[in-house]
Amino acid sequence: MDSKNTEKFDFLSLTDIRKEQFHALYRISSLLSAAEYSESLMADALDVIVGATHAERGLFAQWQVSSNEFNILAARNIAKEDISDLSAFSSGILGRVVVEKRPVLYHDVQSDPTLSQFKSVQIHKIKSVIGVPVFQDNQVWGVILVDSVENRTAFSEEYLDFLNFFSNMLSLALDRILQVESLRDENRALRSQLEAQQTIPDMVGNSPAIRQIANLVHRVAKTDATVLILGESGTGKDLVARAIHHLSPRKDKTFLAQFCGSIPETLLESELFGYKKGAFSGAHTDKKGLFEVVSGGTFFLDEIGDITPGLQAKLLRVLQNQEIIRVGDTQVRRVDVRIITATNQNLYEMVGNGRFRQDLFYRLNVFPITLPPLRERRTDISHLADHFLKKYSNRSLKIDRQTLSKLENYSWPGNVRQLENVIQRALILCDGERLLPEHIKLEEKQSIEDYSGTLRDVEKQLLLRRLKEFDNNRTQAAKSLGVSVRWIQLKLKELEDGQKESNAETV
Ligand SMILES: Nc1ncnc2c1ncn2[C@@H]1O[C@H](COP(=O)(O)OP(=O)(O)OP(=O)(O)O)[C@@H](O)[C@H]1O
Ligand SMILES: [Mg+2]
Repeated sequence: MDSKNTEKFDFLSLTDIRKEQFHALYRISSLLSAAEYSESLMADALDVIVGATHAERGLFAQWQVSSNEFNILAARNIAKEDISDLSAFSSGILGRVVVEKRPVLYHDVQSDPTLSQFKSVQIHKIKSVIGVPVFQDNQVWGVILVDSVENRTAFSEEYLDFLNFFSNMLSLALDRILQVESLRDENRALRSQLEAQQTIPDMVGNSPAIRQIANLVHRVAKTDATVLILGESGTGKDLVARAIHHLSPRKDKTFLAQFCGSIPETLLESELFGYKKGAFSGAHTDKKGLFEVVSGGTFFLDEIGDITPGLQAKLLRVLQNQEIIRVGDTQVRRVDVRIITATNQNLYEMVGNGRFRQDLFYRLNVFPITLPPLRERRTDISHLADHFLKKYSNRSLKIDRQTLSKLENYSWPGNVRQLENVIQRALILCDGERLLPEHIKLEEKQSIEDYSGTLRDVEKQLLLRRLKEFDNNRTQAAKSLGVSVRWIQLKLKELEDGQKESNAETV
């Protein structure tokens, strides 16, 4: 047995390395200079090492100081197969390299009583071993080990030199790989942090739905994809369209919004596509259409569900070829426009019953964003109410708890726009410092359709609804209904008695 010291490796020179090994090092250096670290890279490098040292197996293990354990990064046998079991290698020898912080070379391990005690050495009949440390910041980061069942006297110092050289190359490569990896991890963490905080300018709300929409808006804004914004009236479609433009690379170019609902076809057509002088009476000069005016920017076509079949066909051409022809003209003009459309109609259904072209629908629906109604994101209501209070008043007003409950329990058929209006009205009615339930005037329109049955039934439904709206505060419910608290108490008693009677009947 002999264990070699490494002092001399500081003076290692290339001339000490055989041609075969030099070739091996050359191959390894090209492997290690790869831009990306991959698991197969280490396996490939080990195959070269095993070949060049005439060993039977090779191992590259990472030393984990905290757990005092080795972690296989790559392990290969002479047949270029993976070995996944670390216990197949001598942990005792690996440990020695870590403790001694220098390369070790052993011949005839079996007859060395200090080494032959290791189980793996016996099971695998290991005879010869070379182990070299891989350093990072002057600490042992890992160990490279090659071994053989033969008593390979050929495992000479020369091989030790060679492996040491490899270890130095690996240290340098690891430096780079680890740095890139840690930068990459940091970058991912920052990105996901940023995504979690991504907000849309002017868009208030913290519900999961709004956060998800903010994320989608940020993602799609970076591209030129056509976006279709869906959602009930007043949910914020306009706001989202503007946000996409302002977060996009086109932000310094024009953003134009064109309302397409209930505008006569010919008027909308000449507005969008422009016209040639003499195209119709009143066309005294050539005129650019909005698609040309907005070129380079973003064009938001609102209420797209309302455009006529003729205009649908023309719009399809813009989307397919980025081309327009002015009314009365033959010249084809190229335009560079990002198109965003919105509607509160059900386009799927309109395609189904032939009112909207399917091919156009697919072109518009490249990236749909659906804004949920306010009643499906009630946690946003308090934030929005605060926002509108600040927007429309510089008084420091507080929203009463019951007021908030009234706002949160309402169905908001007109969504955020309706909430905005209700808060504006409440500000007119409120003189004090607290916004009270009576300042909140909600439209009961939908309740008329909701109520059914006899007058007595309607009375009951309205009473219960009001009580719920005012958090069971009988004084406020009475005030809002224009009745006395005593009336409410009587009615509730009547309801209770009626309930008992019907229960008794069913028993
Ligand atoms: N999340 C929000 N935060 C702040 N303000 C909002 C939000 N959503 C909507 N609003 C405001 O509500 C009003 C209505 O929004 P917007 O015009 O974008 O709705 P819309 O979906 O386009 O409605 P319509 O279908 O009727 O055109 C606007 O004044 C807008 O600023
Ligand atoms: Mg709108």
